[in-house]
Amino acid sequence: MKSLVLGANGRTGRQFIDQALAAGDHVTALVRSADRLSDLQHPRLEVRVGNPCDPEFLASVMSGHDVVVSALGPRVPTKFAAAIYSDSASAILHAMQQTGVTRLLVTSSALLFPDQDLFGRVMKLAVPPIVNAAGRMEALIQDSNLEWTIARTGFLTDGQADTFQTSDRKGGTVSRAGVAHFLRSEAVNGQHIREVVGLSA
Ligand SMILES: NC(=O)c1ccc[n+]([C@@H]2O[C@H](COP(=O)([O-])OP(=O)(O)OC[C@H]3O[C@@H](n4cnc5c(N)ncnc54)[C@H](OP(=O)(O)O)[C@@H]3O)[C@@H](O)[C@H]2O)c1
Repeated sequence: MKSLVLGANGRTGRQFIDQALAAGDHVTALVRSADRLSDLQHPRLEVRVGNPCDPEFLASVMSGHDVVVSALGPRVPTKFAAAIYSDSASAILHAMQQTGVTRLLVTSSALLFPDQDLFGRVMKLAVPPIVNAAGRMEALIQDSNLEWTIARTGFLTDGQADTFQTSDRKGGTVSRAGVAHFLRSEAVNGQHIREVVGLSA
């Protein structure tokens, strides 16, 4: 298995890299500047520096990979930062069409599920830029002919347990290790191709 990981320096991205390398995979990690991931070295890890919203750059690194994994997400809940969801999706889809790589796994927000409890409804009102940009990302991906899987989560924790549960109607609090475990399982087994999956602990 050879994975191209976007958002590789993020907390879920790093969990995915750790788990994939431990399982014997090859990983190409995409970071936005050379100081990112500089603490991580492994013979089966290649780090590439570039913009995940640049389709030509993405296409230049994507060929030969079995799966593209995006754990990109905004570091702050502003409209400008949240655009990383939709801007990267557009570039990823373009690069995948160009290179013939077909398997795509992305992380998204459980706030996109239609049925929300009171807390979810309040959160949706609190972070409209995230809901809107993640929604645009998902629409682009779901309109594509790729073998995509979208993992929607609630709050992420840094807990060590990598367990997760799946649902087609809600997501909850779950560890980043659990999300990474789901993503790698999907990369290997493909049980949820063209499905939106809610994750919780
Ligand atoms: N945190 C939560 O509670 C929560 C809840 C629901 C869904 N999610 C989603 O779950 C996924 C993983 O979350 P996380 O908390 O593990 O992520 P994170 O640690 O915040 O990492 C986000 C990653 O996205 C990258 N990134 C953000 N904006 C970028 C830009 N403009 N250009 C290039 N790279 C950019 C960051 O790069 P740098 O490392 O260079 O900054 C980082 O690698 C994300 O999709 C997130 O939105 C998170």
